[in-house]
Amino acid sequence: MRAVVCTALGDESSLTLAEVPPPPLDTDGVRIGVRAAGVNFADMLVISGKYQFKPDPPFIPGFEVAGEVLEVGPEVTTCRPGDRVMAVPDFGGFAEQVVAREVHTHVIPPSMDFATAAGFPVAYGTSHHALVVRAGLKAGETLLVHGAAGGVGLTAVEIGQALGATVIGTAGGPDKVAVALRHGARHGIDYKSEDIREQVKMLTDGRGADLVYDPVGGAVFDASLRCTTAGGRLLVIGFASGTVPQIPANILLVKNLTVIGYDWGAYRRREPSVLRESYRQLLEWYEAGKLKPIVSQRLPLAEAAKALALLKSRKATGKLVLEV
Ligand SMILES: NC(=O)c1ccc[n+]([C@@H]2O[C@H](COP(=O)([O-])OP(=O)(O)OC[C@H]3O[C@@H](n4cnc5c(N)ncnc54)[C@H](OP(=O)(O)O)[C@@H]3O)[C@@H](O)[C@H]2O)c1
Repeated sequence: MRAVVCTALGDESSLTLAEVPPPPLDTDGVRIGVRAAGVNFADMLVISGKYQFKPDPPFIPGFEVAGEVLEVGPEVTTCRPGDRVMAVPDFGGFAEQVVAREVHTHVIPPSMDFATAAGFPVAYGTSHHALVVRAGLKAGETLLVHGAAGGVGLTAVEIGQALGATVIGTAGGPDKVAVALRHGARHGIDYKSEDIREQVKMLTDGRGADLVYDPVGGAVFDASLRCTTAGGRLLVIGFASGTVPQIPANILLVKNLTVIGYDWGAYRRREPSVLRESYRQLLEWYEAGKLKPIVSQRLPLAEAAKALALLKSRKATGKLVLEV
C-alpha cells in the first residue's frame, strides 16, 4: 500500500510517499480502507519528536481517518466489512490502509462524507469531553475560545453554542474572526489588533469570562488570566503559539481560579469507552444540523508535507484533510 512515511525526526520535509506492507490485523482490530485522513497540529509535534508519544522513525503519522471497513478481527462486534467509519488509530493514518482498535472506531451517519468524518473525531472529541466533562460548561455561562477558527477552536465554539453558552471567539485577523462568528460565536476579538482583556471586560460588563478554552498558550493565556471572572476556570488545551505559559499562583489565589489541564489522548488510551459517549452526542448534533464542520482544504495523500506547512503558517481554518 502507499503511505506517507516519516523517515527522520524533524520538520515536514522528512515525509516521503512510499510503498509499504499493510499493517497486521489484531483480534480486536478493524482494517480500514482509508478514504481521508485528518491533519492535526499534533502531527507536526510527532514528526519533530516534541509530542508526548515519540515513535521511532520510520513510522507513518496520522491519527484520525475515515473510510470503509475492509476486514475485522474475531473479537469485533460493533462494525463489519463495508461499514463507513471514522477512527482514531495510534498512528499510521496517512496511508491507504490502517488498523484501528474496535473501541476507537465509530460508524458514521450516511449524511457525513469521508472528508468531514476524517476531520471530526480528534477536534470535536477533544472539545466536547474537555468542555462538558472536565470543565462542566453550563448554559448561560460565558465561554472564551482562543484560536476560534482553528481545528479544535472552531469545534469549541460550536459545542459551546450547542450547550447554551455565550461564546466569545478570538482569532488572528478579521477573516478568521468572521468564521468563528458564522459558527456560533456571539462576539469576536481579533487578537492581532485588539486587546483581549479590554474587549472581554467590555463584552461582559466588566465581569469576565466564566470559562476559557485555550489551544494557543503564550500571551493569549496570560491575557486570559486577567479577564476570567472570580471563581472562573481555564482549560489548557495546547500551545500552538509555541510558548508554554508559566502561571503566577498569586492570580489563581486572589481570583479563586481553577486551571484545568486536558489531554484527550490520555483518555483515548486509558478510558476510550468514556469518549464513545461524546461521539454519540456529537453525531446526534451533527445529524440535527447543530454542528457544521469546516474542511477548508483537501489535499492528496502525497501532499501531507504541504498540509502540515499550511497549518504551521496559520493559513488553515477548521480542518485540513488528506484524501486517499
Ligand atoms: N489537549 C488535547 O487533548 C488536544 C487535542 C487536540 C489538539 N490539541 C492542541 O491544540 C492546539 C491546536 O491544534 P489544532 O489541531 O486545532 O491546530 P490548528 O488547526 O493549527 O489551530 C491552531 C490555531 O492556533 C492559532 N495560532 C496562534 N499562534 C500560532 C502559531 N504560532 N502557529 C500556528 N497556529 C497558531 C491559529 O489561529 P490564529 O491564526 O487565528 O491565531 C490556529 O488556528 C495544538 O497545540 C494541539 O497540540 C490538544
